[in-house]
Amino acid sequence: MKKIISMLLISAFTVLGLVGCAEVSSDKETVNTPTTEISVAETSGVTDEIETSDIKDTVDESSDKKMLVIYFSATGTTKGIAEKIASVTGADLYEIKPKEPYTDEDLNYNDDGSRATKEQNNKDVRPEYEDIELDIENDYSTIFLGYPIWWGEEPRIIDTFVESYNFDGKTIIPFCTSGSSSIEKSSSNISEKTGTGNWLSGNRFSGSATDDEIKNWLTGLELE
Ligand SMILES: Cc1cc2nc3c(=O)[nH]c(=O)nc-3n(C[C@H](O)[C@H](O)[C@H](O)COP(=O)(O)O)c2cc1C
Repeated sequence: MKKIISMLLISAFTVLGLVGCAEVSSDKETVNTPTTEISVAETSGVTDEIETSDIKDTVDESSDKKMLVIYFSATGTTKGIAEKIASVTGADLYEIKPKEPYTDEDLNYNDDGSRATKEQNNKDVRPEYEDIELDIENDYSTIFLGYPIWWGEEPRIIDTFVESYNFDGKTIIPFCTSGSSSIEKSSSNISEKTGTGNWLSGNRFSGSATDDEIKNWLTGLELE
């Protein structure tokens, strides 16, 4: 008889134990509902260990939507600012490289016939750049786009860039360097050219901008 009673007790504990597990599992479901993987794992009775790794994969996937600092710089000034922004934000950094690099002669703004001056005088010119080895549309949600001001505007190679992508669902923050010109004309040009994405107003930096200046600007943007 004693034997029968203890067997009944063991069965009762086993059943209670299973119910307990089901509750833990359903708590997890509430907390982590956004993933399909989790429900598949739970209904198919896969172990906790595998469920956890599924959760991690899912989190990693969403955190793959990262920040990118991408820039064109003919003489290195914008590059310096881009590097600082990337270092402060932890964003990936990428340089847009022209297929035909600009020589000093090309950049001579005192020469009406120089390549840069001719390009800026023709709004339809689209200088080519080397292939960009990034999946910009799928991997990034926030993009800092940097360039120098040429004749008050963005270099035409930036037009080539912005017209090559769909920025739907992304926040794009232009930044530029210049002798003194502001960013406004260029930032409104490029946001109009793309027609997609949430374009913030952007900022002009001098080549000597400090880390603190950059940090203050970034804080003011209140990015998520
Ligand atoms: C062709 C050309 C045109 C320029 N036009 C302007 C301008 O209109 N206003 C201005 O403030 N600076 C102008 N600059 C100066 C650059 O914007 C400035 O030196 C910038 O920081 C260079 O950046 P980078 O070294 O990244 O190329 C011009 C420079 C070049 C080469």
